[in-house]
Amino acid sequence: MARIQLKLGVNIDHVATLRQARGTTYPSVTDAAAECEAAGCHGITVHLREDRRHIQDADVRALSRVLNVPLNLEMANAAPIVKIALELQPDEVCLVPEKRQELTTEGGLNVTGSKKALRATVQKLAGAGIVVSLFVDPDEPQLLAAAEIGAPYVELHTGRFCDCEGDDAACELDRLIRGAEVAHRAGLRVNAGHGINLSNIGRILEIPHLETLNIGHSIVARAVFTGLRNAVKEMRAAMAPYAGGRSCV
Ligand code: PXP
Repeated sequence: MARIQLKLGVNIDHVATLRQARGTTYPSVTDAAAECEAAGCHGITVHLREDRRHIQDADVRALSRVLNVPLNLEMANAAPIVKIALELQPDEVCLVPEKRQELTTEGGLNVTGSKKALRATVQKLAGAGIVVSLFVDPDEPQLLAAAEIGAPYVELHTGRFCDCEGDDAACELDRLIRGAEVAHRAGLRVNAGHGINLSNIGRILEIPHLETLNIGHSIVARAVFTGLRNAVKEMRAAMAPYAGGRSCV
């Protein structure tokens, strides 16, 4: 089967988590990004949360100056954050839902319920030359709404699949496969992310039409034992067999 290059965007939020835990100046997110680049990552992803619990505005600014690969900024559709994105001009923005109390992003955007607000932001960001994606669950109405408001990309939320086992996982994987097909047929380009690790990546490769996987927590956790460069290389090697996934029956 033909190999298709599946790109890896490394989310380095949790390098900043470690720094913020002590209020130190280390570990440096720009040095971490350089390690990921040296390991062949295709992009760097950071989430500038409204509560600034890990990545800070200065991190985004510094990364946009030094990166040699595209910067993907995850962010809520909130006016002050949109303003920062327009000022800092990341290559890509992924709009995500955000709740203050959550440990991590818990679900996809409610696109059907907030078409007007999302369309306005997609247009603003696209007008500034930023490639926009919407983080969504693999639900047909959400995906069709994403296409309707003119987002070029969706990022399928893989978190639920990654949290399940057995029959539940099989069912969630089928939802992702069906979701990728619906998105592709609707003219959307497809990324995916959340909760992906070396144990579940094999099954993630069954999803069709994927361009980029955004992976963070498991890579930074693995780096504690192997170093960041090796952790990124391991994940790239695990992604290399991608042959376009499978279709649902
Ligand atoms: N994609 C999106 C939209 C996310 O919000 C996150 C978490 O910040 C990720 C990917 C990466 O998830 P994880 O850290 O579980 O690999």
